[in-house]
Amino acid sequence: MKKHFKEKLALFGGSKTVNLPSPRFVWPPITKNIEKATLQQLHRSISIYDRSGIFLEFESKFAKYYGRKYALLCNSGTTAIHSMYVATRLKEGDEVICPVYTFFATVTPLLFTGAKPILCDIDENGNIDPKEIEKKITKRTKAVVVTHMWGIPCQMDKIVYFCKRHKLLLLEDCSHAHGARYKNHLVGSFGDIAVWSLQGPKIVSGGEGGILLTDNKEFYYRTLLLGHYNKRCQQEIPKNHKFYKYSVTGMGLKYRAHPLAVAIALECLKNLDKWLQVKRNFASKIIDKLKGCKGIKLPDLSKEIEPSWYALVFKYKKDELENLPIEIFYKALIAEGLAEFDRPGSTCPLNLLPLFKNPSPLFPIYKKHPFSYKKGDFPKAEDFYKNAIKIPVWALKKDEKNVNLYIKGIKKVLNNYKSLLLIK
Ligand SMILES: Cc1ncc(COP(=O)(O)O)c(C=O)c1O
Repeated sequence: MKKHFKEKLALFGGSKTVNLPSPRFVWPPITKNIEKATLQQLHRSISIYDRSGIFLEFESKFAKYYGRKYALLCNSGTTAIHSMYVATRLKEGDEVICPVYTFFATVTPLLFTGAKPILCDIDENGNIDPKEIEKKITKRTKAVVVTHMWGIPCQMDKIVYFCKRHKLLLLEDCSHAHGARYKNHLVGSFGDIAVWSLQGPKIVSGGEGGILLTDNKEFYYRTLLLGHYNKRCQQEIPKNHKFYKYSVTGMGLKYRAHPLAVAIALECLKNLDKWLQVKRNFASKIIDKLKGCKGIKLPDLSKEIEPSWYALVFKYKKDELENLPIEIFYKALIAEGLAEFDRPGSTCPLNLLPLFKNPSPLFPIYKKHPFSYKKGDFPKAEDFYKNAIKIPVWALKKDEKNVNLYIKGIKKVLNNYKSLLLIK
């Protein structure tokens, strides 16, 4: 019997939902202001040794936005994260509770300290699950690190409570979450140290870069010593401090940011609140229009959280579409011209990565303090990852047409999924 479907999908030769050239999402928007600021900085200075100029301006503005005392720009989010772990004096034998589902650089720099990452499964939104944290606390636990995945704040009430109760350091990776709020508090204002990547598509971006914030003076001095030797250490570490004498060499690494990157990021920072407002409107629209559609599960949002919508990630539910494999569903989306739909690849559960299965060939310290994760250890995160489909959330009002097209395209595929069941 011949089957009739409502609309012919582009995968089968039907007309594409989007016929415009890709990419439809380019970030950050290279505005006239960014061009001007970059050129100005190019003539001012392309190398800054201390806390002055564009570094001083960015760090002051960023710290003020978050209401925190000390800010330190770095050349990447990864080096800012390394600085965070070194500053807190984590060491061999310590345990640090970490999300299993995050970009790996949240955790990999920890391996240089010799501390053991104790991975934790996730909640409905892909964030570290507070119930799992509690189960993993031992006498050796020194810290909990969280990532606000895809810009959705973690359940900070519970996490802050456990950390206080067990006297653990709380560290935040806010690389997806510039300007996100939990119960009206900015994420990045909860942790003893918080870090942000300022790389590529991040909401506040300099192309490459990172920043950390803390209120703890001693942590701050250590972050200076780790990667900002000589002038900046001499400028900021008091002469009577026990570490001042190390100022020239510090600990010997160089994590200094590039002034041109910071000039770009500063322009982004000036627009952050405006962009967040547009992103929140677009995300609400997407969720509203797709609510109740069979085959996908949208993020679970309470009134307490205001995500930054770095991206909107939904979970594909094949059981609601007669077990249509995600690979075919995804192929149909792409065929519709919706090139920005993405299945995140390297942002995967860490237990699936060779470094977390067998770290000792690269980090011999873990021969003495072994750990080994394997596939199947974190069923919730693995299921989330396998079924995650991500779309960018546009931040400029002029992009409303893209939002509408993406809603239209995914609805078309969902409404006509039966035709895809015929693909073997
Ligand atoms: C959650 C998270 N943490 C850390 C990083 C690392 O930042 P960077 O690429 O600036 O080193 C990223 C980068 O994508 C990230 O997504």
